[in-house]
Amino acid sequence: MNNPKKKAAPSSSQKKVSKKGPSFDDVKKIPGQLKTRAQVLVLMLEVQKGASLQHSLDRAFQDFSPQERGFALELLMGSLRDYIPLQMEVRKCLAKPLKSSGKWLEALLVLGAYQLTSMNTPARAVIHSMVEIVRTLGYDHLVGLANGVLRGVQRNIEAANGELKPLAIHDYLNEGHWLHAELFKNWRKEYFPGIMQGYASKPPLYMRISRKVSMESYLQQLQDEEISVRFLPDTVMPVPQCIQLEESQRVSDLPGYHEGLLSIQDYSAQACVQALVNQIETEGWLQAEGVAKSQPLKVLDACAAPGGKTAALIDLLPEKTMIHAVDIESSRVERIRENMHRLNVLSENLALICADLSKPHEIIDQVAHDGGYDVILLDAPCSGTGVIARHPDIFWCRREEDIQVLVETQRHLLKRAEALLKPGGLLMYATCSILKRENTDNIEWFMTEGGSQLEVVPMDARLGLQQAYGYQRLPLPDSDGDGFYYVLLRKPR
Ligand SMILES: C[S@@+](CC[C@H](N)C(=O)[O-])C[C@H]1O[C@@H](n2cnc3c(N)ncnc32)[C@H](O)[C@@H]1O
Repeated sequence: MNNPKKKAAPSSSQKKVSKKGPSFDDVKKIPGQLKTRAQVLVLMLEVQKGASLQHSLDRAFQDFSPQERGFALELLMGSLRDYIPLQMEVRKCLAKPLKSSGKWLEALLVLGAYQLTSMNTPARAVIHSMVEIVRTLGYDHLVGLANGVLRGVQRNIEAANGELKPLAIHDYLNEGHWLHAELFKNWRKEYFPGIMQGYASKPPLYMRISRKVSMESYLQQLQDEEISVRFLPDTVMPVPQCIQLEESQRVSDLPGYHEGLLSIQDYSAQACVQALVNQIETEGWLQAEGVAKSQPLKVLDACAAPGGKTAALIDLLPEKTMIHAVDIESSRVERIRENMHRLNVLSENLALICADLSKPHEIIDQVAHDGGYDVILLDAPCSGTGVIARHPDIFWCRREEDIQVLVETQRHLLKRAEALLKPGGLLMYATCSILKRENTDNIEWFMTEGGSQLEVVPMDARLGLQQAYGYQRLPLPDSDGDGFYYVLLRKPR
């Protein structure tokens, strides 16, 4: 006979799932479309714990069809970019705040809210699937709550004609995230809201077309395949090889990709190399009788992997230029090799070196001994706060204490680069950060307490906002390119 007081045995999933939310193992057995969404949820929870997507994305999506992968990427990236406004929508519909152990449920509700605002799935299907995930995972006691909140979010979004309400500055600052506080301190109300809007926008795709093909004939190929592009306005520094794709495309399907005629490279990254090459031309080093002909230029790409700027340097500088591309991580040096192989630019003039630039190295020190490098590009390791729209996980995994460590590394690399530069040589220091600590303030330190003898060389003012030292591009919704910082320095003769 049944004992009415005895509780029913929990289902196998109920036994497994932790109060802190599901893991990859928990979602393995979930069927079909629910599984895609549930895996996105687990990835999002990993990111919120500080994991970088660079390492977990391929593992998580390995069994997905291309269609599922596309859906999952859009859902994950879109929800991460819009997390704070979506979270506010969710919180408005909760009768009382979730406990800290309910953080995972908030992430699930944010994923639901993103689908309701920004994806083409009917609201009923979205709500049903998100609620079913809660049920299938064995959190039966949360099913009603999830259903009620998502219905509330749907009603509010419908009332607002599908638009998410833009947040005020204090909404961001009240969240208590160190990055918001630092960005507000750096850029105040003039730029802070624009940066937040830029972070939440899906970034466009820019291409660098190799000079191996004429731009005219390449554009014709694109036109033949009905791929439309946008040309950059003259409010930005001209980069003749750069065009923007109007719609996102599978990169490997673009004409000329397998022949190495193009690279996907953001405008700001292309502008970095272009500005350096512009100055090399101004110096007269590329003219027929100049250094390039009699004595090839010696260029050090000091932090080179995965080689985006190395490839642009090879394309824009004379064939004989000697380029040393250095990176500290051997796997990343392999990435440079693969990329240069695809672009068909491996040659005896290009040396790929795995080394810590801040330490002595035989080949690099030999060049210094022989007079030094003519040109050094120091695209330093940085916080990546200029590329959060492209890599929204950075917002979650970058910790405040990382910044001082990065600043110290950047200072060591700057000092070493100065020592390796020949008198009269040029050093471009760049980061994809928008924190002044890593950029203008760091160069100020280098030029004063750091004891640098280098002089600042002015560049095209359209590169970005003029800083005490160098130029800052901010990732604003109406400006081209990622957030980036550039300063060009010269060693006195
Ligand atoms: C911003 S990324 C460079 C991007 C690259 N210039 C491009 O355009 O593709 C910074 C690189 O610096 C490398 N790095 C970090 N510390 C280094 C060091 N001490 N010596 C050499 N490379 C270093 C990292 O491994 C990383 O690949």
